[in-house]
Amino acid sequence: MTAKWTPSTWRDLPIQQVPFYPDAAALADVETQLRRSPPLVFAGEARNLKRSLARVAAGEAFLLQGGDCAESFAEFHPDNIRDTFKVLLQMAIVLTFGAACPVVKVGRMAGQFAKPRSADTETIDGVELPSYRGDIINGIEFEEAARIPDPQRVLRAYNQSASTLNLLRAFAQGGFADLHRVHRWTADFVSDSPQGHRYEEMAQRIQEALSFMEACGLTPELVPQLRETDFYTAHEALLLNYEEAMTRVDSTTGDWYDTSSHLLWIGDRTRQPDHAHVEFLRGVNNPIGMKCGPSLDPDELIRLIDILNPSNEAGRLTLYSRMGSDKVEEKLPALIRAVEREGRTVVWSCDPMHGNTVKASTGYKTRPFDRILAEVKGFFAVHRAEGTYPGGVHFEMTGRDVTECIGGAQEITDADLSDRYHTHCDPRLNASQSLELAFLIAEQLREERGEAERAAAAQ
Ligand code: PEP
Ligand code: CO
Repeated sequence: MTAKWTPSTWRDLPIQQVPFYPDAAALADVETQLRRSPPLVFAGEARNLKRSLARVAAGEAFLLQGGDCAESFAEFHPDNIRDTFKVLLQMAIVLTFGAACPVVKVGRMAGQFAKPRSADTETIDGVELPSYRGDIINGIEFEEAARIPDPQRVLRAYNQSASTLNLLRAFAQGGFADLHRVHRWTADFVSDSPQGHRYEEMAQRIQEALSFMEACGLTPELVPQLRETDFYTAHEALLLNYEEAMTRVDSTTGDWYDTSSHLLWIGDRTRQPDHAHVEFLRGVNNPIGMKCGPSLDPDELIRLIDILNPSNEAGRLTLYSRMGSDKVEEKLPALIRAVEREGRTVVWSCDPMHGNTVKASTGYKTRPFDRILAEVKGFFAVHRAEGTYPGGVHFEMTGRDVTECIGGAQEITDADLSDRYHTHCDPRLNASQSLELAFLIAEQLREERGEAERAAAAQ
């Protein structure tokens, strides 16, 4: 029998990656304030996303998820939100048009602040301080005061998430995402590049298709999808004090929802079946995700699925494979086979970022574009061999012209990394690299879907 769940049952269990707040009363006060604050998303929206993810699980749509590794207070600017949103729209268009496949769009945005760290402390020149854990917890500056977890940061992150989400909703519904504007989404620094030209050609063809449809009477008034889009948010549910305070009973269904975001996921470092993060997420009715790294054993995966999705609800659980380009073909098949053997319905998505981080000769943390692409290709190849559906991709990316990942058509080198290395945590793809990757994935997806159609026709 499953033990009773409440939004606070996680507090009785062991927990990883938890910050130590010296001022417990101040933290409790912030939690009280948050509990009285408006929800950021509505339960009905989370249910819509779950329905869309059920279509992904059935092989009828593709999940595109992306955004910063860590949102930050310093990088908070409407232009940054707009630019990341634009690139995600461009990538979605490339996939929708290129692979003739509906795309479910999810931003790693409006709440992606807390970071798991490999060590509790960081030492520079013999000075040891607590690690930076994301702007919602402490400051990135290597100073003793900045590294002390400060509950006021939680309120600031909530407020930043609220205004980010407000802008994203306006962009998605208010005309910015109108398909007649596809050619206006290209960042200046991308427009005069091979990806920029390729995108422009595609935009031209979309424009022609729209004119044709309108001549046939299918106008934006009749087909609202032409002028607005669905856009969802997601983040890692790491700081459970925040997530608990944002968790509410939905008045329509009487069920619990974490209203901090549409989708929440469990990181690779916090997925212990009997620990706090799994306990918390099992009880909320949002669509949820879990990162699956190379250390995940197939039996443990089934045990986790039993806990997180006991009724095998389609769209409830997305599994992000993040093995590394050199391990995906070795590690992923056993997980897929276990899921198939047990008849579980999941969305399989590929996070080709977190298993491919390396240290550049210049000391920066980076990710080679070729390895990212190799992991995506390996992920598609494994699914093809297993007869299962590669349902999505999950990127750390930004619309800005950063130099954080090496390679791609811009041929960013180790020596270029210092030019515009702005990330608060892991290296991100820039707009050019993101678009390049979208074209390459569209090709994979097109082949995949052609293959599936041929197989269906042969039956
Ligand atoms: C992340 O998504 O930023 C992250 C820390 O991933 P993982 O849990 O897969 O390491
Ligand atoms: Co990251």
